[in-house]
Amino acid sequence: DAGEHDSFMHKELLEQPACAEAVLRGRLDERFGTGHLGGLNLDARELRAIRRVKILGCGSAYYVGQMGASLIEELARIPADAEAASEFRYRNPIVEPDTLYVAVSQSGETIDTLLAVQEIQRKGGRVIGLVNVVGSAIARQVDGGIYLHSGPEVAVASTKALTNMFLAFGMLAVQLGRVRDLSIADGKRLIAGLTRIPEQIDQVLATEADLALVAKRLAEAESLFFIGRVRGFPVAREGAQKFKEITYRHAEAYQTSELKHGPLALISPEVPTVAIVPDDELVERNVAALHEIAARGGPLVVITHESVDLGDLEGIVAGRIDVPRNERELDPILLTIPLQVLAYHAALELGHDIDKPRNLAKSVTVE
Ligand code: BG6
Repeated sequence: DAGEHDSFMHKELLEQPACAEAVLRGRLDERFGTGHLGGLNLDARELRAIRRVKILGCGSAYYVGQMGASLIEELARIPADAEAASEFRYRNPIVEPDTLYVAVSQSGETIDTLLAVQEIQRKGGRVIGLVNVVGSAIARQVDGGIYLHSGPEVAVASTKALTNMFLAFGMLAVQLGRVRDLSIADGKRLIAGLTRIPEQIDQVLATEADLALVAKRLAEAESLFFIGRVRGFPVAREGAQKFKEITYRHAEAYQTSELKHGPLALISPEVPTVAIVPDDELVERNVAALHEIAARGGPLVVITHESVDLGDLEGIVAGRIDVPRNERELDPILLTIPLQVLAYHAALELGHDIDKPRNLAKSVTVE
């Protein structure tokens, strides 16, 4: 049972620092600044031969797959993308021998992901799994992989498994990079960054009381936007997913850059926006977009870093949440944690069954 917690989601949220340590344990090679992922069943030559990476998953696993794709592109400079496994196998997918396919699943039982794996293998493709449940159908089907070591996850809304999916992608991206052009110095920088994440997650979770106050205000809205761009966009998608799953509010994710091409028409004092604004190369553009929203009376909650100067927006934002900085490439997971906490507290405020949202199942095992 959930012990002293009101829900498994809350218990699992708070377990994240310890779970994150578990997925990293024994898999970081600090000397060579690389990952040490024995379960991939791929030697250096095979890793070197990979020309493309295709990531498949459903729901949150798909969104974290998008985060993983951008890690792999940035660190290994291999073209990578993520696709909903539920769509992939219905479009007679092109399967290539020098593509590494990655199936992402907490349960390891999601039928859409399992059938996508089988379709790839039937066409001669190689698939690795990022799976939490040991011995599950996908874990048995794949050609190798990385177990997530999150422990059992009960709440439908994934938290700790999702975080470990991200960390597994981080290690995979560094390892793929280090057999290519990622320098030893960059490798060491990223390995050190990964090592800091458990403690930094703890720091974010320590702000739960502040997040709960912001969540109360968000819970009042019928409709919300979650925005981010490039590395921040999958964060926004995952944030909107979590929010809609357990609060039943309309939460829509958008690229910040696309605001002016459509959704700006919907911005009003009734429609809050949760904006992902890391201190990266896009910060000025992101802050400019916040001005566009503020000018239309849209309430803003900004998930950002302490070093970001919001200027005259500072006095009007409905909530500013600063997360600790890591390496830019690894920041997405730390930006995701407050979104889990916001969704949880908004659902609590609304009195919903947090662990078992209506119409949803933890794993969908039928077509
Ligand atoms: C959905 C769940 O049905 O399956 C989501 O509601 C989950 O929360 C998705 O992310 C994928 O599940 P799994 O087990 O394959 O990661």
